Amino acid sequence: MEIQVDKQEKYIFIETFGCQMNENDSERIASVLKGMNYRVTDTIDKADMIILNTCSIRDKAEQKVYSALGRLKKIKLNKPNLIVGVGGCVAQQEGEKLLKRAPHLDVVFGTHNIHRLPTLIKEVNIKKNRIAATDFYNSIEDSFSDVYADDSLTDESKRVKSFVAVMRGCDNFCSYCIVPYVRGRELSRRSKDVLADVNRLAESGIKEVTLVGQNVNSYGNKNQDISFSELLQTVCKVNGIERVRFITSHPKDLSEELINLFGDEEKLCRHIHLPVQSGANIVLERMSRGYSREDYLNKIYKLKQLYSDIGITTDVIVGFPGENESQFLETMSLVKEVEFDNIFSFKYSPRPETKAAAFGDQIPDSVKEERLRILQDAQREITLSKNKAMVGKIVDVLIEGRSKVAKVKKGTNNNQFTGRTSCNKVVNILEQSFGLTDEDIGKILQVRVERASYNSLLGVVENQMHFSG
Ligand code: SAH
Ligand code: SF4
Ligand code: F3S
Repeated sequence: MEIQVDKQEKYIFIETFGCQMNENDSERIASVLKGMNYRVTDTIDKADMIILNTCSIRDKAEQKVYSALGRLKKIKLNKPNLIVGVGGCVAQQEGEKLLKRAPHLDVVFGTHNIHRLPTLIKEVNIKKNRIAATDFYNSIEDSFSDVYADDSLTDESKRVKSFVAVMRGCDNFCSYCIVPYVRGRELSRRSKDVLADVNRLAESGIKEVTLVGQNVNSYGNKNQDISFSELLQTVCKVNGIERVRFITSHPKDLSEELINLFGDEEKLCRHIHLPVQSGANIVLERMSRGYSREDYLNKIYKLKQLYSDIGITTDVIVGFPGENESQFLETMSLVKEVEFDNIFSFKYSPRPETKAAAFGDQIPDSVKEERLRILQDAQREITLSKNKAMVGKIVDVLIEGRSKVAKVKKGTNNNQFTGRTSCNKVVNILEQSFGLTDEDIGKILQVRVERASYNSLLGVVENQMHFSG
């Protein structure tokens, strides 16, 4: 790949929408553009290039992108040399149409085109062309494995923890979901590349890695590489890495081998995000999810049997086409039975090209709204009571940095540090009484939980453990 190195340093501002894959892609964008002398900035006014890395999972997410794009119009007017780019899932979905819609937009690059950015930007700069690049590249070498994420983009917590992509795309075609259309076919990175990435991060001081993909359980299936469980075990062996997480698991592919790791592997965090979507078999079938309510609950019981305090979170869709009241109540009963630590719940949103968008029996928005409210109210109570049950317990917290709330709220204690338990609960820690300093960021400390709210726990340090060197 030919990269023109420009002597003058320039700045890029990246706004990231959507999921963990996009967050990781934004780091890859930063890494690719570093070769063209672009440095990441948090200050939009300083930017020579602004990139929106977009999400189209629901209509609302897509609309957010158009609003953000609209706001850039004025900025471009005042700064004609500014390059405006749109990447990610809306870019992939809309392609050229975006150029027509927004005349101030210079470059649209789809989800497989990050490695092509230097060439595309050069074309914009030199030929003054406006370009949409949305081809899919289906070989690992072309488009995926070779680009390392750059950590310079991210906030201070990213000195402690990092995402590592293990795969991209999805072949599941759940009937509501746009991901397979905008991310293309499932493709796993070679395990040796993943490990090289993890080793590099460990050497740079990272303590926690999260292996990310839309369906990590089917990692390696296509290229006869090691299984996902084997990959996790290998990553757990990397010196310097103290915690390993992964996201997202598909219930149909969650293997016994992987479930058992929660009992065995010390560095593997005791948290799983296992999206259930619905508690009614008929809905699950129409969603093409490939498991039943009973299959799902069985896996949950096995997980809880191995580790009773395991943190479990999920995604739920309400108002899927044809979902009647009793089917919704089955979702409610599942949610109450499992007692998730938290759920991400959404109103069903019809997406272009997906099967469910063409189903006849769409649910009125008012019904979706009402079901969402009922579900969220019930979950709020469960989350709060689970958090309250933590009061008095001693938990291991990996300190990620200073608390965001403390940073923004004037007059509150800005010496408050924050971190997470292995089960993925946010714990805020008071500094004064224990003399915590920035030196403690990246350490795992034992914390006694004193108070609990819906969003987080508040605790005091009991005892400093290892990693002080
Ligand atoms: N790969 C992950 C999910 C990725 S999308 C998995 O299979 O679980 C994240 C969540 O968005 C999904 O779990 C689902 O709950 C929600 N979602 C996806 N498409 C949606 C749609 N059309 N309407 C509403 N919610 C949707
Ligand atoms: Fe979408 Fe289903 Fe793939 Fe998840 S598994 S990304 S919900 S198609
Ligand atoms: Fe959104 Fe694309 Fe992720 S649609 S959820 S950014 S894969």
